[in-house]
Amino acid sequence: MRRKLAAGNWKMHGLRADLAELATLDNADVDVLVCLPATLIAAARDLPVSIGGQDCHSATHGAHTGDISAPMLADAGATYVLTGHSERRSDHGETDADVAAKTQAAHAAGLTAIICIGETLAIRAAGTTLDIIDGQLAASIPDSATDDNTIIAYEPVWAIGTGKVPSTDQIAEVHAHIRARLAERFADGADFGILYGGSVKAGNAAEIFAVPHVTGALVGGASLKAADFGPIVAALAAS
Ligand code: PGA
Repeated sequence: MRRKLAAGNWKMHGLRADLAELATLDNADVDVLVCLPATLIAAARDLPVSIGGQDCHSATHGAHTGDISAPMLADAGATYVLTGHSERRSDHGETDADVAAKTQAAHAAGLTAIICIGETLAIRAAGTTLDIIDGQLAASIPDSATDDNTIIAYEPVWAIGTGKVPSTDQIAEVHAHIRARLAERFADGADFGILYGGSVKAGNAAEIFAVPHVTGALVGGASLKAADFGPIVAALAAS
């Protein structure tokens, strides 16, 4: 079983001076990761937290202006990468097949991929959340996935950056479903990390971390400042 993971996602925030926020976040009991803008990865490589990218191309190199490859992220000092974040899916039209190809590229480069899935509010209202989750799991996870190189992040799109959080029963239902699907497909499916993401804050972290099969969090807005992220790391360590 992987160690619990508190993962931050800075999105398109942060200049070099902001890296000082990462200096005190390490924790003996849980893994701490921050997925940074590509410009900050090399500068952060010696800080006492793991560093990740926020996206990678499916190819190792080539004529793809503005893109970044998984070997480039690894070379800069990243050990993780997010794939299929909902903002990549919506801003850049990334499909499940794209996400699987990017994840496979991450594996080939020795990175741990955090594959993001989750339903929109319309899907939740239509009552088809678990069907959508099934489709995303089946098509976004490549066969190269193991509990060592892949983590799943369940992030309801409607909870990201909105301050809205599903009930613990809703989180529990989806996480148990993801666990069951992973166990059906992968010999080590019982050991994959499964993060919850979407408006995690110091004030709700403990109750979310108490939900079965939640092995950590993917945190956006509340990961930018040590004063906000530190208590979330501490809540995970205490869970
Ligand atoms: P949020 O973002 O914590 O700001 O809701 C989470 C995410 O997008 O990973």
